[in-house]
Amino acid sequence: MHAPVRSAVFPVAGRGTRFLPATKAIPKEMLPIVDKPLIQYAVEEAISAGATKLVFVTGSSKRAIEDHFDTDPELERALEESGKAELLESIKDVVPKGVSCIYIRQGEPLGLGHAVLCARPAVGDEPFFVHLADDLIAGEPSCLKQMADDYQNHGASVVAVEEVPHETTSSYGIVAVEASDNGQRMTKIVEKPKPEDAPSNLAVVGRYLLAPQIFDKLENTGRGAGGEIQLTDAIADLLDDADVYAYPFSGDRYDCGNKLGYLQATVAYGLANDEVGDLFEEYLRSKLGS
Ligand code: UTP
Repeated sequence: MHAPVRSAVFPVAGRGTRFLPATKAIPKEMLPIVDKPLIQYAVEEAISAGATKLVFVTGSSKRAIEDHFDTDPELERALEESGKAELLESIKDVVPKGVSCIYIRQGEPLGLGHAVLCARPAVGDEPFFVHLADDLIAGEPSCLKQMADDYQNHGASVVAVEEVPHETTSSYGIVAVEASDNGQRMTKIVEKPKPEDAPSNLAVVGRYLLAPQIFDKLENTGRGAGGEIQLTDAIADLLDDADVYAYPFSGDRYDCGNKLGYLQATVAYGLANDEVGDLFEEYLRSKLGS
C-alpha cells in the first residue's frame, strides 16, 4: 500500500492567447462549461482522487481564481435572504472542509515545467498530481482517481495518455511504451514531434501523477521547445532513473484550450445537464433540422 497522494498542482499561469479577447482580463480557467468554471471541474476531480492540498500556480490577471475559491459572506447572505437555497449550496462548499488552497505566483511564464517547479515549496517531498484545467475529462471514476488507483499497483509516476490522429502529434507530448506487469511502461517521451519523428500516436494529456524526484530534474531542465521549460523534458530525464507509466484513461477528453474543443465540451455537458439538457437537445435538433 502506498501513501495516498495529497497534493494537486494546478498550473494556471498561462496567458490563454488562443482565447483572446475573452482571456484578456479573465483567466481561461474561469471560462464556464454550462454553469461552472473549468477550474472548479479541475478542483472537484482532484478532490475526488483524494487531494486535500490544492496548489494553484498563478500569474497576472488570475485574481478571479482566488476569489472563486474564497468564501463570499455577502453573496451567501443575499441568497439566504431571498430563499435561493439551491444557489446558496452551489457556492458554499466549492472547497470542502479539510481541503486547503495555496496560491503561488509564477513570476514569468517560462513554461509548464517551470510552473510545476514553482509549486515545490508547497508540495514538499511527496508524489503529487498535476492537473491542466483546460483538458476537461468526463470520466467515472474521474481520470485522476483512475490514476491514483493505478499508482497503488506500483508506486511510480503515471501520465495520462490517449491515442490521437497521427498528423496531430506536433501538438502534444508523445510517448513510446513497452508492456510490463504493471501496465504500459514509458520508454521515451518527446515534446511536440513532427508526425514523421513521432515514436507513436500516444499523446500525453493534462493529467500527471509525479514522483517528487521530478523537481530535481526540473531544476536542471533547460529551455526546450518554444523557449519554455518543458515538463516533458524533465519526465524524459526521470525515465533514466525511475519507472513512469503511461495510463490510457477511460473517459471523454475535451481540449478547452481551443475554441472547437470548448464548444464540444459545452454541447456534451449541456446535453448531460439535469436542468436544461432536454430543452437543449430539442433546440440543437431544431437548429440542425433533424
Ligand atoms: P498552454 O500551452 O495551453 O498555454 O499551457 P496557455 O498560455 O495556457 O494557452 P495559449 O496556448 O496561449 O492559448 C498549458 C498549461 O500550462 C500552464 C497553462 O496555464 C496551462 O494550464 N502554464 C503554461 C503555466 O502555468 N505557466 C506557463 O508558463 C505556461
